[in-house]
Amino acid sequence: MIVKPDGVRKRHCGDIISFLEKNDLDIIGMRLVKLTATTAGEFYDIHRGKPFYNDLLAYMTSGKVIVIALQAENAVARMREIIGATNPRDAAEGTIRQLYAESIESNAVHGSDTPENGRREVGFFFSEKDLLETT
Ligand code: CMP
Repeated sequence: MIVKPDGVRKRHCGDIISFLEKNDLDIIGMRLVKLTATTAGEFYDIHRGKPFYNDLLAYMTSGKVIVIALQAENAVARMREIIGATNPRDAAEGTIRQLYAESIESNAVHGSDTPENGRREVGFFFSEKDLLETT
């Protein structure tokens, strides 16, 4: 998961991390970072060429983000349930995006959409050594 620039700017990090803990998602890696255009571009490579890609990169590099590696049974499905739909207008009551997101772009958090992408995204920001030393 990534707490996006709007989540950090609006001081929602603590509340969002608290959601993870209350839902028994174990934090095994966490860092506050400022993404470069290259890093954000590689991370969101799957969206390259889409109409919102350039704005997404500009936005994701507009401030610091918190990258978080989570571990749990069915971690991706459970994490996606608590973050809610990408567009906060469609996000269910009580989800992170319903509570904290402003718009489809400034939507508070990014969450991996499949276990495969979850593994890729954790590997993108954390080495195995980082994770072993924190578990
Ligand atoms: P995220 O889960 O980080 O994955 C890609 C992001 O692109 C998404 O959340 C949105 O914040 C952003 N985005 C902007 N416009 C769109 C769109 N039309 N469809 C999907 N994602 C969009």
